[in-house]
This record gives sequence, C-alpha cells and structure tokens, in this order.
Amino acid sequence: MTQKYIPLKDHETPIKVLFTGYLCAVAVGYFFALVQILFTHGMADGKFGLSIDDIVYSYYGNRSGTVLEKKLNGSMKQNASDKERFEIMQWVRDGADIKTYESTGVKKIIDERCVMCHNKEAGTIPDFSDVEVLKTVTTQDEGATFASLTRVSHIHLFGISFIFMFVGIIFSFAQSPTMQYKCIAIGMPYAFLLVDILSWWLTKLSPMFAILVILAGMGMGVSFMFMWAISILEMWFYPKVFINQSSGEPRRQLSEVVLEKLAPFGGDKNLSFLANVFTISKSLFAFAMKLWQNNILPFVKDKLDKKP
Ligand code: HEC
Repeated sequence: MTQKYIPLKDHETPIKVLFTGYLCAVAVGYFFALVQILFTHGMADGKFGLSIDDIVYSYYGNRSGTVLEKKLNGSMKQNASDKERFEIMQWVRDGADIKTYESTGVKKIIDERCVMCHNKEAGTIPDFSDVEVLKTVTTQDEGATFASLTRVSHIHLFGISFIFMFVGIIFSFAQSPTMQYKCIAIGMPYAFLLVDILSWWLTKLSPMFAILVILAGMGMGVSFMFMWAISILEMWFYPKVFINQSSGEPRRQLSEVVLEKLAPFGGDKNLSFLANVFTISKSLFAFAMKLWQNNILPFVKDKLDKKP
C-alpha cells in the first residue's frame, strides 16, 4: 500500500519535539485529573479511594439523611453533646420548621455550639446565625444539581474532545497498528466521552448506572494510554521496538500476535475486529458454561450435600 501520510518516525525532529511536548503535558494533566477525582468524588462516602458508593453519592446523592444529620454524626460530632445533637436532629426530622426554631431550644444550641465557627466571618462554611442558611443543610442530599451537571457536561465535552483531537491527530501518523485498530483507538474516546457524560445524568436519575461512569472512564483511559504509548515509541524508539534486530525485518503487527494468541478461543485473522470480538466472546461464554456445568456446579452440590 502506498502511504499517503508521513509516518511518525519520519517526521522532522522539531515536529517530534512539539508532539512529544504536547503528549507529555496532557499526560501530566491526566494524572492531576485523576488525583482531583480521588480527592473530590473519592471522598464522597467519607472513605479514601474511589468506589461505586462515591459515584452514587456524587451524582444521585446520599438520600438516607440530610447534610446536617450526616455532619452531626460525622465531622461535627464532637461539637455538641449527644443530647444536643439529638434535639437538633429531632427538629430536622420534624420538618425544620422556622416557627419552632426558638421554642424547641434548637436556636440556643446552635448559637452556643456552632455559631462560634459558623458565622458571617467564617468564609466558606455556612453561617448558622441565619436560620435560612441553616435550613439549606436540612434538606436531603440529592447529589449533583442539574445546574452543576449542565456546566460540567459542556466543559467536559468541549475540553476533552480537544485533547483527543490532538492526541488522535498525532496517533493517526502511526504506522505500526492496522488501519482498523487505528480507527478504533481514535474513535473510542469520543464514544466513551459521550457514554461518560450520559452516565452522569443517568446516575443522577438512578444509582444503578454508577458502574457505567467507571467503565466509560476506564475506556477513555485505556485508549489514551494506547495512543500515547504507540506515538512516543514510534517517534523515538522505532528501530528498537518495531524492527527485529537480528533480521532487520519489521516485527509482526501487534494485532496479528494478539490474534494468534486468541486463536484457541476462536480468533481468526481473516475476520474483522468486531467479528472476532463476537466469536471470541461466544466461545469464552461457552467455555464458562462448560466450567460451570462440569466443575463448579458439582463442587457446590457436593458441598451442600455434605452439610448436615
Ligand atoms: C470548631 C469550629 C466548628 C464548630 C464548633 C462547628 N463546625 Fe460545622 N464546620 C466546621 C468546618 C471547618 C466545616 C467544613 C469542613 C467539614 O465539612 O467538615 C464545617 C461544616 C459543617 C457542615 C457542612 C456544611 C456544608 O455545606 O457542607 C455542617 C452541616 C455543619 N458544619 C454543622 C455544624 C453544627 C450543627 C455545629 C454545632 C453543633 C457545628 N457545625 C459546629 C467548623 C465547625
């Protein structure tokens, strides 16, 4: 096939430096984005590390109680006695009625125990000397608001598609993957980006979609790493990585090697990628079924039978 583009390895050095600079900067950016996710969404359930609960709390919210109750059982616990905390929660459960704020004695507790920090001068934390402000934390935590989702959605769509535009352009000069794999690697981030944004909105409606947020994020990460690594390797390490040192011949294409490894599971290099994914998952499924029928099920039955 005649090549209609300049392969990455044959670009002038200044262009390679430009491409490499960009790739390294966005890789560091990606790293900080992950750290940022760990510290915002990662802490949503009160524990460090990203989990499904974090995603659910961030988008759907923790609907098992109000922010005030959760804080009184969490980081604000030591600021009031058990009795006082109970009285505040009682008032919240009864609907946090402003009319009964003083008569129930809750105002006195808040003024004595909380306003020393939660006052006008406090800055970022809410000012509880104003009962209207206190009221805002007595409503249920419903996660991300539609306003914030709309804002983050459009920022993500515009920003991330730009990043993948340039990473994709650089990667499109790669010569080691086949045309098919290049198309998939370049298109995948956009598909996952749309799924990612959609999954936030779906999770806002129902927590069962939280897993989709994680899968879409991983899909984007995998395609980013793949394009990044191939581009850098082809620009600077082409002879070492892609040429067989002893024979001087180009090494075989990665996809061919992978397909050969998958041949026992039904992979066929004459078929298209999608057809391969289909046949391979079919045979993997058949394999799993056989394992279940012949090994796992008898084992479980055996264990159950032995129980007195
Ligand atoms: C020693 C200072 C201090 C005292 C006393 C204090 N708080 Fe806080 N409060 C903070 C700080 C700092 C934060 C922000 C960090 C956090 O969320 O843990 C906060 C956050 C909160 C939040 C979450 C606000 C939000 O919008 O997320 C609530 C609710 C809250 N406090 C309630 C109370 C109540 C009720 C009392 C009285 C029983 C109280 N606090 C006493 C310092 C204090």
